[in-house]
Amino acid sequence: MRGKFITLEGIDGAGKSTHIEYLAECIRKRGAAVTVTREPGGTELGEKLRELLLNRDMHADTELMLMFAARCEHLKRRILPALASGEWVLCDRFSDASYAYQGGGRGIPADRLVILERWVQDDFQPDLTLLFDLEPQAALVRRSAQRDADRFEAQELAFFARVRDAYLKRAAAEPTRFRIIDSGQSRELVRVKLEKIIANA
Ligand code: TMP
Repeated sequence: MRGKFITLEGIDGAGKSTHIEYLAECIRKRGAAVTVTREPGGTELGEKLRELLLNRDMHADTELMLMFAARCEHLKRRILPALASGEWVLCDRFSDASYAYQGGGRGIPADRLVILERWVQDDFQPDLTLLFDLEPQAALVRRSAQRDADRFEAQELAFFARVRDAYLKRAAAEPTRFRIIDSGQSRELVRVKLEKIIANA
């Protein structure tokens, strides 16, 4: 039986990476094997592209195409084979991030994203997407306590407000695929919610 493909989304600092290992544990408790991976990245080539994407200045269209190039490699060489072998795949970001960051944040029209998405994915979509939602100012406070900012993290609050807005619009348009997690809650409350979601997935 094909495994399930679950993606985690949210603005930088919203806390999705904090919860990914706990989610993996919940899936293992169900008796399924799980691959934990991330985008951009997840393959040797994808991690090299990530390094460029997070650190090198480039045109917004170049950024968009490199995100999808990394995704193509990841999907075809890692995600699809894992799902076909019955494993679940837990992925820290996927195409919704391109719609939110390159679409909402950078202002690239959605029709360009649709072309790349179709090219790379055909009609493949996550089975479930967990959107960790947090107000941009609170996310900034969390981020600055953690690490030095990369190219995305260094963007102004208005950029993250647009990214968050784009995520929330996508979640509203696809309510059966998305679950919105209020990241302003305590870690324990978030865990309780995640456990329930995985138990019903
Ligand atoms: P991460 O810090 O969550 O690992 O993600 C790296 C950065 O890449 C994050 O700031 C969001 C950005 N990103 C995009 O802009 N578009 C995408 O399609 C993906 C997957 C990530």
